[in-house]
Amino acid sequence: MSKRIVVLSGSPRNVGNTNRLTEAFIEGAKTAGHQVSLFKVAGLTIGGCRGCGYCFKHKGVCVQKDDMPPILDGLCTADALALTSPVYYFGVSAQLKLAVDRFFALLEEGMAVKRTVLLMTCGDATDAAAAPSISMFRQLCAYQKWEEAGIIIAPRLHNPGEIDGRAELEQAKKLGENI
Ligand SMILES: Cc1cc2nc3c(=O)[nH]c(=O)nc-3n(C[C@H](O)[C@H](O)[C@H](O)COP(=O)(O)O)c2cc1C
Repeated sequence: MSKRIVVLSGSPRNVGNTNRLTEAFIEGAKTAGHQVSLFKVAGLTIGGCRGCGYCFKHKGVCVQKDDMPPILDGLCTADALALTSPVYYFGVSAQLKLAVDRFFALLEEGMAVKRTVLLMTCGDATDAAAAPSISMFRQLCAYQKWEEAGIIIAPRLHNPGEIDGRAELEQAKKLGENI
């Protein structure tokens, strides 16, 4: 069955390794006949949640007028969500976290999402640097009652192109096919 998938990519480097991993996932998803909406959040204007509660009184509409509405609209109909990011100081990129915090606007209205994946790259030799992000992702899944559909962490990556030929690309493609 064709699914709708929202992909939030948090890397500011268009030609970087995270986006290569993201593209592999999307390639797999499209091969399987799924519909993908990709948002490269680092290139968008997204303000931090102000915690003002305006959204709760306005059916999930945020007081801020920025690039977030199409993402929130997508999450209202998406079957699955993919979060992708480089590790930045032991977390996801601030650009991705800004978008995730804004999910708050749909806390009462709810999202359609049922399954989620996390794709990350990091510079360290092991995936240990991604542990706090994995923890955040799992807490988010539990909180939202989303099923964790897969996590891929690709370590030892610094310069664009280094991920080419690596097994994680094939794993991401397969994850996209089976989401
Ligand atoms: C601001 C910044 C912070 C980073 N922090 C970490 C870190 O804490 N741990 C780590 O393993 N790699 C860290 N890295 C390396 C990146 O996670 C890694 O090179 C990643 O593959 C870059 O992804 P990209 O090619 O999509 O830009 C950092 C890189 C930058 C630019």
